[in-house]
Amino acid sequence: MKKTVVLGSTNTDMVIAGRKLPAPGETVSGGRFMMNAGGKGANQAVAVARLSAAKGACIFIAKVGDDLFGRATAARMKKDGIKTHLVVDPREPSGTALILVDAKGQNMISVALGANGTLSPEDVAPFKKDIESSAAILMQLETPVETVAWAAKVAHGAGSAVILNPAPARKLPRALYPLIDWITPNETEAELLTGVKVVDAASAAKATAVLKKRGVGHVVITMGSKGAYCGDCGKLYPCKKVKAVDCVAAGDTFNGALAVALAEGRDCVEAIEFAQKASAIAVTRPGAQSSVPYRREIR
Ligand code: RIB
Repeated sequence: MKKTVVLGSTNTDMVIAGRKLPAPGETVSGGRFMMNAGGKGANQAVAVARLSAAKGACIFIAKVGDDLFGRATAARMKKDGIKTHLVVDPREPSGTALILVDAKGQNMISVALGANGTLSPEDVAPFKKDIESSAAILMQLETPVETVAWAAKVAHGAGSAVILNPAPARKLPRALYPLIDWITPNETEAELLTGVKVVDAASAAKATAVLKKRGVGHVVITMGSKGAYCGDCGKLYPCKKVKAVDCVAAGDTFNGALAVALAEGRDCVEAIEFAQKASAIAVTRPGAQSSVPYRREIR
């Protein structure tokens, strides 16, 4: 079985779930504190592992500090059967996110990248063979873009599919675009990358055209409760209406599920449908990795 490599961040999420999100300068008291396993990379790795048909389908590459949080990452990943390559940075702490969630499940997130921010191509080079022999590599942007570009080049050269979830939003080097097989921005990320304000299917089509002109293979734009736009079929697929309690990691679940479905050879419509079902379940549960469903839960 060819595996899916997830290269990216791992964080510990310090969460307060309360009534409302504070405005700048405002203090909102009340709410419940949770310390959760998070980080876009680790969340997506957990999604790949839990949503794959076979055990051991995921390899996770990340960087942590020499601290309790870093050691906890290794133990957590093991529970989901993920083969994990964790590089340790002796100078930086492990990544941490401060998250506020309101009663509607909306969130605000601030991340101190710590060791995630120092993951270099040299750190990843010892695991090059895993990338070259993978079905796909799934990456985000909580680790340096130079390392993402390096890994994309290795994977592309070996015929492994490169999937980039460009979150959090940032500009990408032009040379990276032709190495990307699938890109999955949300509306704001799509706007930052293309300059097109994405609000509906027509504007999503325009943003898709810009990305494709730069060399990207396929585009899927996630549009929150409006659904997901598929650049290949030019359609916005609405998502199932659910009662959201916490949207943290909904996008990560979508991306992990999409990677699983694509690695299984499903077409874009089936892959999006599978990813939407998985993320619809994730938003009904609190936390990041704790909210990611298992394959048996997807009907
Ligand atoms: O996408 C959700 C994740 O973003 C959280 O788990 C947090 O750690 C931040 O990286």
